[in-house]
Amino acid sequence: MPELAYINGDVMPIDDAVVSVEDRGYQFGDAVYEVIASYGGKMFCVKEHFARLDRSMKELHFPKVQIDEIRRAAIDLFSKAKIERAAVYIQVSRGVSPRNHAFPGKIPVQVVMTVRKIEEKNPPIREMGISTITVEDLRWGRCDIKTVQLLPNVLAKQKALDAGCYDAIFISKDGIVREGSSSNLFILSGGTLITHPLTPDILPGITRSLVLDICREKEYPVQERFFDKRELYEADEVFLTGTITEVLPVVRIDGRAVSNGKVGPAARALQEGLLGRLKSE
Ligand code: PDD
Repeated sequence: MPELAYINGDVMPIDDAVVSVEDRGYQFGDAVYEVIASYGGKMFCVKEHFARLDRSMKELHFPKVQIDEIRRAAIDLFSKAKIERAAVYIQVSRGVSPRNHAFPGKIPVQVVMTVRKIEEKNPPIREMGISTITVEDLRWGRCDIKTVQLLPNVLAKQKALDAGCYDAIFISKDGIVREGSSSNLFILSGGTLITHPLTPDILPGITRSLVLDICREKEYPVQERFFDKRELYEADEVFLTGTITEVLPVVRIDGRAVSNGKVGPAARALQEGLLGRLKSE
């Protein structure tokens, strides 16, 4: 099967999929999304991703949708594509309507999905760790909602690539370390794993929550609290978490080595713990 797309109930090869120029996601960024990864032919954390999608739509006052129907359609599309290691992308916009900032009248939301193969990175960045830069967080005040308005994230990622790095870390105007351009961030400091608390300034990552669960299970000390750039630079380990990203060690930030510049044991153990969860789900 080729990589597939879905638009409001119709399934087709991705290259044949087109949506209206008047989709509100296209004109206003008025759309929300999820990315779900599959391992060995099974989609992972489906319930959690659809709960977050539902929440995102509610927070933005989208019309009521049958979230279970969208979930069934996603699972059905994934099984039709028969790609064992896939990224399933689901985007719901407020619908198709003549351009007007105000919400449209009673029109259905537009649901678009794709299923694509995940290519494993070569050279294997997980074993080597990645280099990063820090950038000022220019995003809006509701980063807890997973919207397609990703321009600051896009600019941050490109700035990192242009600097010869893999990713960028958002730092607030007042110096608080937020998260990666498409991931959450943890540091290990004095034997404690620390990550930004759940506030409107970061995405409540599903991988972040799994990693916190694993930490509690393994009785690693954890704190959800604010920390600044100085603590980030001085951390014993730094890693990013996300769907597809999994647990990704950061070994350089702004040209400085994190600790000895090598991947640390906490990141390794948590990556293993995460893979263990995948196998047991
Ligand atoms: N990104 N923070 C941001 C800003 C993100 O975009 C993501 C995910 C995460 C991690 O969330 P999760 O663990 O639920 O995947 C944190 C997705 C994968 C993306 O935009 O492609």
